[in-house]
Amino acid sequence: MAEGISGNSHPDGWPGQLWLEGRTVVHLLDEQQRPTHMPRGPAKRTGPGFLNPAMAPARTRSVLLLNDALEHDWLVNDNKSIRVLDALCATGVRIRRWRNEIPILSQNRLRITANDLDDFALNWARHSHSAHPPHQPIKHEPEDDRYGKTSNQIFENGLDFRQMDARIAMLETGYQWIDLDPFGSPVQFLDAALQGLSRTGVLEITATDTAALTGSSASSQARRYGAKGIVDVYAHDDAVRLLLATVATSAARLDKTVIPLLALFDGHHVRVSCLIKTSREKASKVGENIGWRIREDDVPYRFVQHPTPEQVKRGSGPLWTGPLWSKEIAGRMTVEKALELCQPSSAELESLRQSGLEWSDDDVEYSSRELKRSVRYISDAADLMSREHLLLNLDALPKWAGVGGAPKLEKLITSLVGGGHAAARLPDIEPLLVTDAPFETVLEHVRNNSTSAK
Ligand SMILES: C[S@@+](CC[C@H](N)C(=O)[O-])C[C@H]1O[C@@H](n2cnc3c(N)ncnc32)[C@H](O)[C@@H]1O
Repeated sequence: MAEGISGNSHPDGWPGQLWLEGRTVVHLLDEQQRPTHMPRGPAKRTGPGFLNPAMAPARTRSVLLLNDALEHDWLVNDNKSIRVLDALCATGVRIRRWRNEIPILSQNRLRITANDLDDFALNWARHSHSAHPPHQPIKHEPEDDRYGKTSNQIFENGLDFRQMDARIAMLETGYQWIDLDPFGSPVQFLDAALQGLSRTGVLEITATDTAALTGSSASSQARRYGAKGIVDVYAHDDAVRLLLATVATSAARLDKTVIPLLALFDGHHVRVSCLIKTSREKASKVGENIGWRIREDDVPYRFVQHPTPEQVKRGSGPLWTGPLWSKEIAGRMTVEKALELCQPSSAELESLRQSGLEWSDDDVEYSSRELKRSVRYISDAADLMSREHLLLNLDALPKWAGVGGAPKLEKLITSLVGGGHAAARLPDIEPLLVTDAPFETVLEHVRNNSTSAK
């Protein structure tokens, strides 16, 4: 029988092979293939100690976001500490990255709890943390929570490990930050997460059930999210907006209101990060930001709050129709910041190589590219994504504009900006344009810049 997280023996397969994510050394099971940099799509799971390398960019953004809250004091005032919970931490890469990569000045303001039900994964997390402690020792005692110290709790160098059902862990104390990264859909954990947050808190959610969120699995979408989808060029944006609508309506039932900070469709998952505040008055207005995306003949789509039965046939919803990102916070999520926080220095790399990390010059180059890709386009699109905008897929535009080929996206953006409009590219596999120009104006710019234009 498993000995639980308090045992000191090494988990089977320890130490495995070393890998570097951001500036944090990760132990991978030997049977897990050494990841390629920038993997995309769902990974093939190899058991409880498996680390999904395709989630590295989401973890990088999580480091940046938590750092931003501390650096710019938008979550708690007066340099107070923030109670953070990774409710489903698995082998603990995210929590360890928070501890290693957020600058030391802010570290003592972080109270980090790491929870998972799985014995093996948690033990692996603990051993990884012991083998590679944070660059500077963390000087604070464990927090007393409402229920006091429990038997399935271990405090070690700034990380408070728990082994319990996430729904119980989230309700233990008022957290100001909860990360929810389950296998598949987050819906079963959502209510507990919202209740576990203090009056103002951040909730970061990953959902890998993209078939349900996009509507490619219509029955699970209807069952799980009470929605209807259309799988077209808007399916990714719809998936993000559907998850936000689910969070916002669940929050409203608990007198809470939701302010999205960053919400992305990233390859095989949706990730939303929201500020959640207790406010009966604002929660009562949740309906103002919920509606349907109706496909139209004169423009690609319109958001409608109360669709007619005929519109529902051409519509997806109900979805979040409000702002998707915070202009200020997403605006600070730059390539420079990602490299500043998450890229190891040459001296760090040298010392890691001496302790057994095999990291070639190519690895240095590729991991740096991955860091850049994690935040690419975000700051440029932050303003538009925080207000009303039009989202267009470049590949769909020639048909609308009646031309043979689309211009290059960068060229179209330059042209729109030159015409006095805001325009930017969105981070997505598809060539997505976001702009505040009217659709007709965009089509004029497409015609003027089209590869088939004279
Ligand atoms: C997708 S993994 C988390 C990955 C992790 N956040 C990371 O970045 O590496 C989901 C984790 O949820 C854990 N889990 C599943 N159901 C749980 C529950 N009810 N309570 C606590 N942990 C649970 C699993 O053991 C697994 O480690």
